[in-house]
Order: sequence, then structure tokens, then C-alpha cells
Amino acid sequence: MDYISIADAMKQGKGIVALRGWCYRERKSAARAFVVVRDDTNIIQCVIEKASADPETWVAAEKICIESSLTVQGEIVPDARAPTGFELRVRRLEIIHLAERFPITKDQSTEFLLDVRHLWIRSRELTAVWKVKSQVLAAARDFFSQKKYYEVTPPIITGSSCEGGSTLFSIKYFEEKAFLSQSAQLYLEAMIYSLKRVYALTPSFRAEPSKTNRHLTEYWHLEGEEAFMNFEQLLQLEQELVSHICQWVATHCAQELKVLGRNPEELKKITLPFPCITYTEAIELLHKDGIEIPWGKDLRTIEEEALMKHYDKPLLVTRYPKEIKAFYMKDDPSDSRVVLCCDMLAPEGYGEIIGSSERETDVNILINKLKCQGEKIEHYQWYLDLRRYGSVQHSGFGLGIERVVRWICKLESIRDAIPFPRTIKRMTP
Ligand code: 4AD
Ligand code: MG
Repeated sequence: MDYISIADAMKQGKGIVALRGWCYRERKSAARAFVVVRDDTNIIQCVIEKASADPETWVAAEKICIESSLTVQGEIVPDARAPTGFELRVRRLEIIHLAERFPITKDQSTEFLLDVRHLWIRSRELTAVWKVKSQVLAAARDFFSQKKYYEVTPPIITGSSCEGGSTLFSIKYFEEKAFLSQSAQLYLEAMIYSLKRVYALTPSFRAEPSKTNRHLTEYWHLEGEEAFMNFEQLLQLEQELVSHICQWVATHCAQELKVLGRNPEELKKITLPFPCITYTEAIELLHKDGIEIPWGKDLRTIEEEALMKHYDKPLLVTRYPKEIKAFYMKDDPSDSRVVLCCDMLAPEGYGEIIGSSERETDVNILINKLKCQGEKIEHYQWYLDLRRYGSVQHSGFGLGIERVVRWICKLESIRDAIPFPRTIKRMTP
């Protein structure tokens, strides 16, 4: 008999089916055993009656323990009392591998669960997160393909910093020092001269010294860059991308969102236009709320959270003071104190999900800005060449995949948005 998935068996709803998977829960009495089986699609309650089961099946049912792998065959019937609305009346159960005593039980500490992360990633909640994340990536690729962007493959080992030295990881590169990429942006900027519209999905690395719920040292970064794109078009594009991801996940992940406690209707409401304010307006709004923050200071988590109390959609905050932003951002022609940049903040206090800007196109302004930030010009000669040979207006953005997944899945910590999180204190398993 061919094996089918639990989801397909439930769709079929009747008749004899064969399934394979793992023992999720088990409960036994003298007369019958209940084994909840899980596979990648769902869980289903299986019942084995001692009186009617063949002897080997009953022996297997008595022996089986959590996370053992198994096959079952039997009749599937609707049953309102069963956890997912169906029950399998088992005719035959075979153990593929009898598991050792599974180390994960109820109420274990976060640290222990991170130690056994390679086993904990099988949990129902985390499985739902991986599925949502896969659909977030599918949605993003679908979006960029509709917009006629090329996916490109920038390097991870680099000799120049994109986002400033304080969060750079350095590595020994033969006799030299190299860095792990913080952002593909500088390379994407180079590639727009051949492909006009490009995007990349890469790991980015940040030596973040703080332990927070929104920082990883290795995360997945989705970045886009487009030639001839102005600031207004950039803002439009990033709103469309985030809305597309939310609509897509709401339609493709109803079952997973339910497991995670996120109502799909909330995601469906993420439509254009998103609210948009300047940094200066954000500071004024914070002052009205009685929060003291001088103009010129970067927004911290507490200020972002206070701001987001006013909004239920992602918020665009534009035109930050240039001193607190990266060297490549273009000065605002109408106010030279600020740059043409935009951070997108997620609702419900999940924080910044996108960093973006129009890029400076003038080679001398760039050289000056690099010098002011204490960077060595020789490391950037190749990048400066991009402004020497056919420089054009262009803009781009970077979206943190795990930040978006954390928000969509309502996760307490960003660690649960990635299977094997790397943080200040952890690089195993
Ligand atoms: O705001 P950031 O630093 O911007 C850049 O790297 C630009 N070069 C992107 C570009 O324009 N191409 O990072 C972009 C996004 C942030 O908004 C956040 O979502 C995510 O990357 N991010 C992190 N995610 C997880 N852990 C960290 N330590 C992160 N740092 C940034
Ligand atoms: Mg940022």
C-alpha cells in the first residue's frame, strides 16, 4: 500500500490509509492504546484495540515511546473528540526505530531547549514557523519576479564594511584580514549597472554585543537595488513588498498561523498606503507622549515601541539625521541635516524590519563622508568607481527575514524565527 500524508488522509476522510511518521504522544490502558502520530503535514490520533489488533501490532503499541518512527495502516474516520477531528482505527502498526527516552518534556528552561535545538525544531510550533518562513521567502521571490528583478549572488567574504566597523566580524583570510558581509548592498549597487533591478537573499553577519529579542549575529537578509529609482518610488516598492508577503502568508498558511495564535485577518489588513512620518515628526510625537529624546539621537527599542502605540500598520520613518546613518545615504536636497532614508517599523512593537535609502551618487561627497566616519578610502576604491563610470540615481533596501517572521508569527524572540540561532552566547548546535 502507498503511504500518504496525514493531511491527504484527512482530506480523503474515509477508507483504509497507510501513514508514516513519528510518535507525538502516547497513552495506554490494558485494553487500548492511543498513539498520536505526526508527519510534516499534521497530527492524527491512532487507536489500537488489544482485542482486535494482531499480536505484533499490540506488542509494538505497548512498546512505542515519544519520537519513535513508525508506520500505521488502518481505517480513517471522522471523530470530533480527536485532536484534529479524525481518528485512525489501526490494523497494523510497525516501529521503524524505537527512540531512546526523549530528553524534552514539559516546562524546560529556554537554555536547555536551545541546547537540544536539533530535537526541539520538531515541535509543532517551530514546524509551523518553518513553514511560514518558507512562504515568506516564496512570497518575496514571487514579488521580485513580478517586478522583473534579477536574483544575484553577492559574496559573503568581503574587504570593506557596509554598515560601520562596530558590528563587523573579522576572519583570518590567509595572510590578510577579511570580514563577513553585513549587507550585500555595495555589491548590489555594482550589479545595477548591468541588470538595472537586482535582489539577493544572503546571510548577513552582525557582531551585535547585546542580547535582545530582535538581534541575531547571523540572519537572512533580503536586499533590493534599482537603477534610476528615486526615493518616493523606493518607499512605494517596500510597502508593496511587505503587503504582498502578508497577503501571501494569510492565504497560504492558515493552519500554521492558527497554531501560532496569529489571526490571518490581521495580516490581510496590511494594505497600502502605510503611514509615513519623518524622523523629526517622530521626535515631536514622542515629546507629546512625554518621552524625552533630543533631536539627533537614534530611536531605541523603547522609543520605537512608544511610537508604534499610535499605529496598527507598519510605519515608515523617513529622513533621519545624517550623523546616525550610513555613509552611502543621499543628503535630502531640501534639508542638509537629514538624509533620504527610511526605516520601516513593524506594528505591535516588533521593531525595525527594513532599512533603506536613496544612494549618494557624487564621488567627492562619498569620499568626504567616508573620511568623516574614519574609513580607509583605499578599501572603497572599487565602490567609488561606480560613481566614476556612469553614475545614476538609485535606491535600495534591506529586509530582515527573521524580523518579519517574528512579527508575522508573534514570536517572543527572534531566535525562534531561525532553526539554529547564532547569538552572542551561542553557536551550537
Ligand atoms: O538597517 P540595516 O543595517 O540596513 C542595511 O544593512 C542596508 N545596507 C540595507 C540595504 O539598504 N540594502 O539592516 C537591514 C535590516 C534591518 O532593518 C533589520 O530588519 C535586519 O536587516 N537586521 C537584523 N536582523 C536580525 N538581527 C540583526 N542583528 C539585524 N540587523 C539588521
Ligand atoms: Mg537599520
